[in-house]
Amino acid sequence: MSNIDQQALFQLSYGMYIITAMDNKRPVGCIVNVCSQVTAEPVVLTVCVSRDNYTNKCIKQTGKTAICILTEDADSKLIGTFGYKSSKDIEKFENIEYTMENDSPVLTGDGICGYVTGTVIDTVEVETHTLFIVKVDSAVKLNDNTPMTYGYYRQVKRGKSPKNAPTYVAPQVKQETQPKGITYVCTVCGHEVTVDGELPDDFTCPVCGVGKEFFKRKD
Ligand SMILES: Cc1cc2nc3c(=O)[nH]c(=O)nc-3n(C[C@H](O)[C@H](O)[C@H](O)COP(=O)(O)O)c2cc1C
Repeated sequence: MSNIDQQALFQLSYGMYIITAMDNKRPVGCIVNVCSQVTAEPVVLTVCVSRDNYTNKCIKQTGKTAICILTEDADSKLIGTFGYKSSKDIEKFENIEYTMENDSPVLTGDGICGYVTGTVIDTVEVETHTLFIVKVDSAVKLNDNTPMTYGYYRQVKRGKSPKNAPTYVAPQVKQETQPKGITYVCTVCGHEVTVDGELPDDFTCPVCGVGKEFFKRKD
C-alpha cells in the first residue's frame, strides 16, 4: 500500500526558471521548477529536465546551458510560451530580449532578475527525466526584483504545470454532467472554461495566465 501523501510533497519548495540551450544557431528553452545548487566549491547546480522536452536534447548536444531566474511580476505569457509550448513547433525567442554568454542564450529583459550559465559535467537518467549536473561558469544578478517561487506561481498566480514537470499532479476527473453554456479553449495550455456567454474582457487563464484573446470557442 502506498504511503505517499501528495499534500506532504506540496510542502517542498522550488523556484521558477527558464533553462536554455542552443540548437545549432537557434536559442531554445523551457520552464523548470526543479533546480538547486548542490555544492559551493566548485559551484555546481542540478536541474531536472524531461526527456520529452526539446531543450533536453539540445543541452545534451551542446553540454552548455543557462538558468534564467523568473521574477514574481514575470508576464504569464512568458510562462505560457516557455512552459506549455515546444521549440519543436515554435520560435520561443521571437520578441524576447536575450544575449549570448558562455555559448548559452540568457534572457535579460522584463521578468528575469538574474541568470547562471554552466557546463554539463554529468547526467543521471531518472525514469522520465534527466538530472543535469552543471558546473557554473558565470552567475549574474540583473536587478533586485523578487524571484518567483513555484509556491507563488501556484498560489498567487493560480498557475498549474504540465505533464513534463517533475511535480505534475494529474487533475481529479470531474464527475459532472455536460456543462451548460459556451466552452472556450486556451490555445496556450489547453485549459477549457464554460461560461454563459462571452468571456469577460479581463478574463485570464487560471492555468497559464494568458488573456481572453488566447481563447477560442470549442466547436
Ligand atoms: C510551472 C512549470 C514548471 C515546470 N517544471 C518543469 C521541470 O522542472 N522540468 C521539466 O522538464 N519540465 C518542466 N515544465 C514543463 C516544460 O517547461 C514544458 O514541457 C515545455 O513545453 C518544454 O518545452 P521544449 O520542448 O521546448 O523543451 C514546467 C512547466 C511549467 C509551466
